[in-house]
Amino acid sequence: MIPASLPVRVPLVNDEVGIFKSLQMARHNILSIIPASATKQPTVSGKTGKRWHMVMDPPIIREILLDRLDDYPKSVVTKNLLKPAIGESLFIAEGAHWRWQRRAAAPVFSARNMLNLSPIMTSAAQRSCERIAAAGQRAVNMLDEMVTTTFDVISDVTFSGGDTFDRDAVYTAIDDYIAQAGKISLFDVLGFPDWVPRPDRIMSGKALQNMKQMADRAIDARAQRGKDGTPDLLDLLLDGIDPKTKRKMNTAELRDNLLTFIVAGHETTALTLSWSLYLMGFDQTAQEKARSEAQSVLQGRAATGDDVANLPYIRQIIDEALRLYPPAGMISRTAQKADTLGGCEVRRGDTVMIPIYALGRHELLWDDPDAFKPERFADRKAIDRYAYLPFGDGPRICIGASFALQEAVIILATLLSRFKFLPVKGKDPDPIMILTLRPNGGVWLTAEPV
Ligand code: HEM
Repeated sequence: MIPASLPVRVPLVNDEVGIFKSLQMARHNILSIIPASATKQPTVSGKTGKRWHMVMDPPIIREILLDRLDDYPKSVVTKNLLKPAIGESLFIAEGAHWRWQRRAAAPVFSARNMLNLSPIMTSAAQRSCERIAAAGQRAVNMLDEMVTTTFDVISDVTFSGGDTFDRDAVYTAIDDYIAQAGKISLFDVLGFPDWVPRPDRIMSGKALQNMKQMADRAIDARAQRGKDGTPDLLDLLLDGIDPKTKRKMNTAELRDNLLTFIVAGHETTALTLSWSLYLMGFDQTAQEKARSEAQSVLQGRAATGDDVANLPYIRQIIDEALRLYPPAGMISRTAQKADTLGGCEVRRGDTVMIPIYALGRHELLWDDPDAFKPERFADRKAIDRYAYLPFGDGPRICIGASFALQEAVIILATLLSRFKFLPVKGKDPDPIMILTLRPNGGVWLTAEPV
């Protein structure tokens, strides 16, 4: 069966309407501040309170993310938003304070350690299959299901066996935070007045405090008890030492980094899987092809870390889902000095955005940009590195990229080898970006055992 139409997408703002007029829309969906011209031109600039530029030209993006890191640090907006939750952790620190934390955390995400952690992903995939099977003929919201599954993974790999750790409470705290912070981010991006409350004022909330206290208790308990079994992320960070300065992390730094891994790692991976499953419902031919690959490799068992390299088509589906629906749909930087980017005049303090969503659908960079064609990733060398940035790039590239990809391949392959997923009529999701690009309304599928 050939899909008759394109998968769901966001109607981008028509330039004549004007970005400012679309603010009302943008309140609910930050993607709707992206003008349609961002998928046709290399740069777009504007002023809505603050001066901003969107850059979609791969060589200029490379300059911003790789060559001129110090001139384009993470934006003030990003920092204001995330600091109340994750302190001066790896995600937002700059300069020497960022560098030493990145070095100390690097071994946690090494290829060898990824394989050590993969059994946790395999059992989470197995448990997900059991829950889906239990739903029988009823449609399942695969967004909720994937959030549960990836939270299972991240909480097990961060604080394994943590009896001091209440998963539900942590999940609720993060969800509330993202919902609150997301609303405010738009005001910041577009330069709203200072009387608009900022997250540090409203988010000294109880949920966040509880979450931090729980993490602190888990860290103290582990330091006293010592480790047993395969080391988890907490053990590895406790041992982590900056090879240059010999510095180790104190409890607050450990806590902020662990919470960073949970906040940055769990929802993004759940979204990748949910969008991949939506696309599988949308394109039954691709689903059949993926299932036959998964079944021939797995022979009835759940996928493991060692299987990942033998599941290239499953990986292409995930790559294509990340192009069409990048969970981090936009990254932003604040210019530190006057500059010219692709002919645009940039002033000190301007916000420079890389709209990953528009980049992945750019007409000059992709053939048939809005279509779902996983095969375009069959030859990775043919893809321009700076045209495809679901994980960012340069020194600040996502530290968890291989962790997320391994997890997504293990879970998607296992699910497709066991079930045939069918879409529920009239229930297509709406792509909405608050902090992350979510399928609003959920991803509703029925699952027939195969
Ligand atoms: C599909 C899943 C994921 C996506 C799409 C994603 C996306 C990103 C992106 C775009 C950035 C760069 C942001 C910027 O330059 O402004 C980033 C950074 C980061 N991500 Fe991820 N991420 C994912 C999974 C994970 C996981 C699983 C972890 C950890 C367990 C993680 C931890 C981090 C950290 C710590 C940084 C900051 C790195 C630094 O600044 O040195 N992410 N991620």
